[in-house]
Amino acid sequence: MRQTPVRLGIAGLGTVGIGVVKIVQRHADLLAARSGRPIEITAVCARDRSKNRDADLSGYAWEEDAVALARRDDVDVFVELMGGHEGAAKNALEAAIASGKDVVTANKALLAHHGQALALAAEEAGRVIRFEAAVAGGIPVIKTLTEGLAGNALRRVMGVMNGSCNYILTRMESAGLSYETVFEEARALGYLEADPNLDVGGIDAAHKLSLLASIAFGTQVSFDTVELEGIGRISIDDIRRAGDMGYKIKLLGVAQMTGRGLEQRMTPCLVPAESPLGQLQGGTNMVVLEGDSVGQIVLRGAGAGEGPTASAVMGDVMDIARGTRLPTFGTPATQLAAPTAARANAPAPFYLRLELFDKPGALAKVATVLGDAGVSISRMRQYGHEDTTAPVLIVTHKTTRDAIDHAIARLPATGVVDGDPVAIRIEEV
Ligand code: NAP
Ligand code: HSE
Repeated sequence: MRQTPVRLGIAGLGTVGIGVVKIVQRHADLLAARSGRPIEITAVCARDRSKNRDADLSGYAWEEDAVALARRDDVDVFVELMGGHEGAAKNALEAAIASGKDVVTANKALLAHHGQALALAAEEAGRVIRFEAAVAGGIPVIKTLTEGLAGNALRRVMGVMNGSCNYILTRMESAGLSYETVFEEARALGYLEADPNLDVGGIDAAHKLSLLASIAFGTQVSFDTVELEGIGRISIDDIRRAGDMGYKIKLLGVAQMTGRGLEQRMTPCLVPAESPLGQLQGGTNMVVLEGDSVGQIVLRGAGAGEGPTASAVMGDVMDIARGTRLPTFGTPATQLAAPTAARANAPAPFYLRLELFDKPGALAKVATVLGDAGVSISRMRQYGHEDTTAPVLIVTHKTTRDAIDHAIARLPATGVVDGDPVAIRIEEV
C-alpha cells in the first residue's frame, strides 16, 4: 500500500529553492526508501512566474503569495527559502504555523531576529521549525549540536561561518591583494549578498553564531548582544605580518558561557596558522564544538551554494518525514533562559602592530606603556625602517581587551607611535 506522502510547499525558487526541487526530483526513490514515505512538492511560489528557473515546475501549483502557499490544505511542510527577516518570510512562517504546518527554513536572519517568538508559537501549536541550512550551509551542525551532543554541557562554540569573508581574507593573502581589490572581485563573482555589509560587516555570520549559542547554552536567541566587527579594516599588511608571527586572520565567531554571562563575538581574530581553522581556505566553513564529555569536534564543509544548502534543507525534510520532532533550539522554548550578555573580556594573547618613529628609546617607551597597563610582552619583532617609521609587531601574554585598550589610549602621548596601532585578539583554538 502506498504510504501517505509528505507534501512540500516551497516559497522561494532561487539558488536554494531550485536546489531543493532538483533533489526531490532526482532522488524521489531514495528519499521514499529512506523515510518510508514519498516526498512530493505540491505548490511553489516566487516573485516572478515568468523567470526561467533551470527546473521543471510544471507539475506544481503556483501561488503568487507565500502566505497563501503556507495556508494550502495540500501542504504539510512549508519550506521557506525566500530570505529576509521581516515581511513575506516572517508572515508566511507565522501563517504556516498557525495553519498547522511544520516549517523548514534556511533563513538565519529571520531566526536571529524572531527565533524565540517563532519557536514559542511553533511549540504551542505542536509544530516544528527546522533550520539546518541556516548555519554553515551543508555542514550538519544544528543536528550535531541538538542531537549528537545533547548529553554534553557545551563549553565553547566557534567557527568561520561566512564563506565570502574567508574567501576575501585567503585571496588577499594568496594573491597579495588589498581588501578593496578582492572585495570588488568577490562582488563581480557573485559571492557577496545583495547587501555586502551582511557578509563583510559580520552580520550574516553573527546571525548564525546567535543560533548556535541558543542551542549550545539553552538561552533565548540574542543576536543584538553579539559583539560585532567586520573585516573591512583588515589590511594586507596585517595578513602578512600575522603570517610572519605564525598566525592567520579569520572572521571568527566565538560563543561561551562565562561566570559573567553569555559571551558572543564575531570579530577578526588571529588563529595559529597550523590549526584546522588557520588552514581553512576559500569559501569553506568550519565549526568547532567543545563539550565536557566529547572534547573538541571540528566540522568542515561548504557553507553555501545550491547543492550544499539544499542538502541541509532536505535533511530537515527527511527528519520530519521520519517523525523526528524536536524543540526548535533543542530545549523547549518556554525553558530557554533570557541570557545576560557579557562583554568579551576573557584574557587572551593579543597581536599588536605599531608604526614606530626612529627615535632613541622609542621601544622602551612603548614597553613602559604596556607594562603600566599590565600588558606583558611574549614576543616582539621590529622590521627595518621605511622612511621615518618601522613596523613593530608584538604578541602579548594573556591579557584583557580593557588592558589593551587602556595601553593603546596612552600610546599617542609617548610621541613615538605614528598613526593608530592595530590590536587583534589571538584565539586559542
Ligand atoms: P535567492 O537566490 O535570492 O532566491 C530567493 C527566492 O525567493 C527567489 O526565487 C525570489 O523570487 C523569492 N522571493 C523573494 N521575495 C519573495 C516574496 N516576497 N514572495 C515570494 N517569493 C519571494 O536566495 P537564496 O540564495 O536561494 O537564499 C534563500 C534563503 O536561503 C535565504 O534566507 C538565505 O539567507 C538562505 N541561505 C542561502 C544560502 C546560499 O548559498 N544561497 C546558504 C545558506 C542559507 P524571484 O526568483 O521571482 O525573484
Ligand atoms: N553569504 C553567506 C556566506 C551565504 O558567504 O557564507 C551563506 O550563508
